[in-house]
Amino acid sequence: MKKFYITTPIYYVNDKPHIGHTYTTVAADVLARWHRTLGEDIFFLTGTDEHGAKIESKAKEMGLEPKRYADEVAAVFKEAWKELNISNDNFLRTTDEAHMKAVQTALQYMYNKGDIYLSKYDGLYCRGCEQYKSERDLVDGLCPDHKIAPEKMSEECYTFKLSKYQDELLEKIKKDELKILPPNRKNEIVSFYEKEGLEDVSFSRKNINWGIPIPWDKSHTVYVWADAFLNYLTGLGWSGEAGKSPKFWPASAQLMSKDILRVHATIWPAMLLSLDLPLPEKIFIHGYFQINGQKMSKSLGNVIAPADLVKKYGVDATRYLIMSATAFGHDGDISWEKFDDKYNADLANGLGNLAARVSNLLETNKIKLNLRIGSDKKLNEECAASMQAFKFDESLKILWDKLRAGDAVLSDKKPWKLKDEAAIKNILEPIAGDILNAANLLKPFMPTVSEKVIKQFSAKQIKKGEPLFPRI
Ligand code: MSP
Repeated sequence: MKKFYITTPIYYVNDKPHIGHTYTTVAADVLARWHRTLGEDIFFLTGTDEHGAKIESKAKEMGLEPKRYADEVAAVFKEAWKELNISNDNFLRTTDEAHMKAVQTALQYMYNKGDIYLSKYDGLYCRGCEQYKSERDLVDGLCPDHKIAPEKMSEECYTFKLSKYQDELLEKIKKDELKILPPNRKNEIVSFYEKEGLEDVSFSRKNINWGIPIPWDKSHTVYVWADAFLNYLTGLGWSGEAGKSPKFWPASAQLMSKDILRVHATIWPAMLLSLDLPLPEKIFIHGYFQINGQKMSKSLGNVIAPADLVKKYGVDATRYLIMSATAFGHDGDISWEKFDDKYNADLANGLGNLAARVSNLLETNKIKLNLRIGSDKKLNEECAASMQAFKFDESLKILWDKLRAGDAVLSDKKPWKLKDEAAIKNILEPIAGDILNAANLLKPFMPTVSEKVIKQFSAKQIKKGEPLFPRI
């Protein structure tokens, strides 16, 4: 059986889940559910990134022990994904004992191999990114992502020989052995390798206590990214043993946004090479959401939380609105107003209204049908092609074009004005068939609503049900 392994980034617990995390997680879920419908053997992993300077200082600010604090926020993430009907097979926390032990085993191997050596880091560090920065990464002296001045750091550290893997990685990326998508993101990374190149990177911190102790020198903790990356393996039950791939490794698709692409295309695959493990097949970079043209931030008070969306629109509509908000792979601007408009146009007045009108007419005219799921080959193929190409929004567009065409036929032919049963049936049958076929293809996006529609439109005597999407 073909296997398919999907990951999201593990999210920092310095913050509760917002629509950005939700976007990646829902997209991964759509992908996982789609591949399950193909009968593949799927593993879908998400989780939380809980160590490091950022979490340590946040916990302190909250007056809590870091683990207590992380427990609370990790629970909020778990709850949010449960509410959104996310079908992850595991939720990995970097504070899990088994993960921490595996990280130590792996780093010890890299150290013994000579890929990690003792030196000193003199330079800058951004706590927001948890990354070492060089002057050329800054804009007006600030980290462009976090708008804060990085702190000066000067400490002894264990350093990973990232530079050793430069040529091998560049080659593999160029040849798509590690495929970075969309193509513009690959180009960006290739040009980074060619222009700036890989420098060795500090893999330990002396002054950060909240982390996994370096096994051969407990006065250091593991650099948080080195700890975090290995989640993609430990989440599959990997014990840290080099050269030993767990069943689902390598990942088929690793989803994330542009903010963390560079580390994922440099440090992460280099660690895998050092550990004698294969590279992930694909890294897909989706777009970044802005809200009304602005960066989402607590200080601007414009953060959208998944729970607020679910409260207003319901679970399936929230999933639809997020996935259709922008072309997958391109940045997008979102707002409550845009969501309201789209909810009303596509769901309440769109799918919801069409299903209600058609089912109502079939019931009142006592017309019996015998529809078959998946009968529209062309529609199936077109949707499958977009799903395969990570064009989730396009897949939705194809389905909505179909539904809108049905709506237009209905308005044009006005079957409610006709008396002849055969004539009414002739108009309604193909539209009802389209609704059923569309519902089937919508399963990965709207698991509950699609099942409802499938049940309703597979019956011999289709009946008008409850409204699918109440108007807002
Ligand atoms: N903990 C690291 C990842 C470690 S993975 C080994 C991290 N965490 S994060 O909480 O900051 O999550 C970043 C990711 O969240 C982005 O790459 C993206 O997947 C998602 N998003 C966060 N904000 C987003 C938007 N505004 N828009 C779209 N996605 C965004 O980085």
